[in-house]
Amino acid sequence: MTKNPSQEFEPMPTYFDHFKKFKRLRLFEPSVGILGFFLVTVCIICCFFYLDYRAVAKGFQISSNSDRFFRLKFGGHGHEEKKVEFLEERGSECDVFDGDWVWDESYPLYQSRDCRFLDDGFRCSENGRPDLFYTKWRWQPKDCNLPRFDAKLMLEKLRNKRVVFVGDSIGRNQWESLLCMLSSVVPNKDSIYEVNGSPITNHKGFLLFKFTDYNCTVEYYRAPFLVLQSRPPPGSPQKIKTTLKLDQMDWTSTKWRAADVLVFNTGHWWNFEKTIRGGCYFQEGAEVKMEMEVDTAYNKSLDTVLDWIHREVNTSKTHVFFRTYAPVHFRGGDWRTGGSCHMETLPELGSPLVPSQTWARYNILGNILSSHSNASKLGTVDLLNVTVMTSQRKDGHSSLYYLGPKVGPAPVHRQDCSHWCLPGVPDTWNELLYALFLKREDSRMQNSPALQSPE
Ligand SMILES: *[C@@H]1O[C@H](CO)[C@@H](O)[C@H](O)[C@H]1NC(C)=O
Ligand SMILES: *[C@@H]1O[C@H](CO)[C@@H](O)[C@H](O)[C@H]1NC(C)=O
Ligand SMILES: *[C@@H]1O[C@H](CO)[C@@H](O)[C@H](O)[C@H]1NC(C)=O
Ligand SMILES: *[C@@H]1O[C@H](CO)[C@@H](O)[C@H](O)[C@H]1NC(C)=O
Ligand SMILES: *[C@@H]1O[C@H](CO)[C@@H](O)[C@H](O)[C@H]1NC(C)=O
Repeated sequence: MTKNPSQEFEPMPTYFDHFKKFKRLRLFEPSVGILGFFLVTVCIICCFFYLDYRAVAKGFQISSNSDRFFRLKFGGHGHEEKKVEFLEERGSECDVFDGDWVWDESYPLYQSRDCRFLDDGFRCSENGRPDLFYTKWRWQPKDCNLPRFDAKLMLEKLRNKRVVFVGDSIGRNQWESLLCMLSSVVPNKDSIYEVNGSPITNHKGFLLFKFTDYNCTVEYYRAPFLVLQSRPPPGSPQKIKTTLKLDQMDWTSTKWRAADVLVFNTGHWWNFEKTIRGGCYFQEGAEVKMEMEVDTAYNKSLDTVLDWIHREVNTSKTHVFFRTYAPVHFRGGDWRTGGSCHMETLPELGSPLVPSQTWARYNILGNILSSHSNASKLGTVDLLNVTVMTSQRKDGHSSLYYLGPKVGPAPVHRQDCSHWCLPGVPDTWNELLYALFLKREDSRMQNSPALQSPE
């Protein structure tokens, strides 16, 4: 078989029934690339026109009629052919991860200044980011509509339950987003508190926020590798500072095994810099594998995680999600070498420029998931397949605006093009989480014998 770019980006083998009929990523085919380029250009022109127009409209108080006219052009929610609702039965076939970003004036879902459960690093507007466009994009699946996020309903469904995020700081990003989305409907913010009294600025270990009125906790465990990182075996060479035990779960796993909703992510630490360069080698059994490459180790660790889920997690109780890799957008370098995403104010709707590492991380997870799909019943793990949609959001990163309101913007050569401003892109991941969560709750209610027999 010859190698061509579209093969490189071939979607992963599928894991779920409704993902069965997968298509190639047409974005990467040349003819469509040109069309894409054309569309992006038109879109950017429209955008400026639209945005300028809005500024003018504000000045002159132009009626909302003409506003609606512009929304039509944008394909916003005012003008769409009738799509099925994802939560309807007919919506089950819909691939919610295949779609478009559309401008929506009703976003964002909250304001960062109203949310006290946020690291300074994610408060871009408060830290001086001048544009707000990045807060205004809604994800629209191609074949269905997502339910509008309803925090009250979600909290009601989470009564007496635990939601746990496990992973790296991008998982933390998503966890804080959910805290803000949920807390926005709780009038008494003091009724939400960290169970051990730790401040949100604590970046070690774990944080458990309790919503008293619902007896529900929304928790985050820092475990960037998901598997156990600890001391090397006695007598190891000096250069081995720590090892990753590829066949053992992180030590906190006993704490989240029985959660009701469990959201994994990993990937950003699985690179040379964050492992071998720092003296962290890979270990299987009692043996340190000095020669093992990072990708191989990553693959093995995912195998361990999935085996553990099948073995240790009661998946009729626990709804397990695995969020796929969130792309970084350093243009012209990486975080150490002046890579940049500053001044990116619009999504890239053509074929996004993301490093090949993104697709490597994405594909390894996809392959492992499909190799496990045979071994257990389908649907054990819900994939939050956000990589492709997120790759278009180069505008969503913290860039210079992560240092807190008092410090002001960071120097241009120290940009953060990995983490996300909030409100922003991780809210969309949580809206998808919400949709899949409700879908499963609905089907549970239907299958529950208690509800079928009349009382
Ligand atoms: C993830 O979503 C993309 C975009 O819709 C799709 O092409 C791909 O097949 C999906 N992957 C899986 C494993 O479902
Ligand atoms: C609160 O939720 C926990 C599970 O997270 C449960 O064990 C406990 O019984 C609940 N408490 C009440 C009063 O319902
Ligand atoms: C990942 O592991 C599976 C078996 O668990 C294997 O089939 C596959 O080739 C491995 N992939 C890589 C990239 O190492
Ligand atoms: C798994 O969870 C279900 C639903 O909560 C429960 O009925 C069942 O007893 C549990 N199974 C085990 C082995 O704990
Ligand atoms: C996978 O499915 C095939 C056919 O259904 C079956 O023969 C095989 O034993 C299965 N493998 C595993 C690991 O369950």
